[in-house]
Amino acid sequence: METVERQIRNGVFISIEGPEGAGKSTHLNRLKDALATEGYDVILTREPGGTTISDSIRALLLDAGNDNMTSLTELLLYAAARAQHMQEVIIPSLQAGRVVLCDRFTDSTIAYQGYGRGLDIQLIKHLNDLATGAVYPHLTIILDLDPALGLERVNRFRHGGQDSKDRLEREDISFHQRIRKGFLRLAAKEPARYRIIDASRSIENVFASLFATVTDYLRHGRQQS
Ligand code: TYD
Repeated sequence: METVERQIRNGVFISIEGPEGAGKSTHLNRLKDALATEGYDVILTREPGGTTISDSIRALLLDAGNDNMTSLTELLLYAAARAQHMQEVIIPSLQAGRVVLCDRFTDSTIAYQGYGRGLDIQLIKHLNDLATGAVYPHLTIILDLDPALGLERVNRFRHGGQDSKDRLEREDISFHQRIRKGFLRLAAKEPARYRIIDASRSIENVFASLFATVTDYLRHGRQQS
């Protein structure tokens, strides 16, 4: 029987990470369209979410009314949403040879629940392995920016100045600073998998860097790895 590793060898798995307000959703929608125009068979998905069950879990996680959720409950819910997403969407898409773009993945759990909430990083890595079946992105792009700027963007654009931030966005600035530091540490430890893009620049500049990074990887990176 073929191993999962062999079965997924034709697909390319790319995750995009970063603090709040880095503009991931806007860029990922554009990136998906641009790659499809180039002829790639591409799917855009997100965490938490990507399936009906995972989207129900997402609603629980982001509901600002659930302000008494414990950090462990939060961690287990992200893992549960991921386990379903892997089996229903990510693994079948990789097996079909598609390019999978995922808006947040396991690095968010290490950054938010590990560096942000202070849960044990080794425990999180074990849970990530369990939920993913040890299938990880080939390439992870971090859209990096100062959380103060990111949260200001979230307030200005996404919520139109209204107080409708989700449960995570409501955390204080030091929580978000720890998360940024977490992402940068992960990238520093495993530079082959990560690319960091400065997301404080204009949308056009950020997108140009993102598109160049991904197309360069799709054309050359996989052969080298
Ligand atoms: P979302 O609205 O998608 O945020 P963003 O647009 O910034 O990506 O909400 C996802 C939230 O869940 C976001 O605050 C990050 C958080 N998160 C975790 O805390 N742990 C995780 O494992 C994942 C995947 C996301």
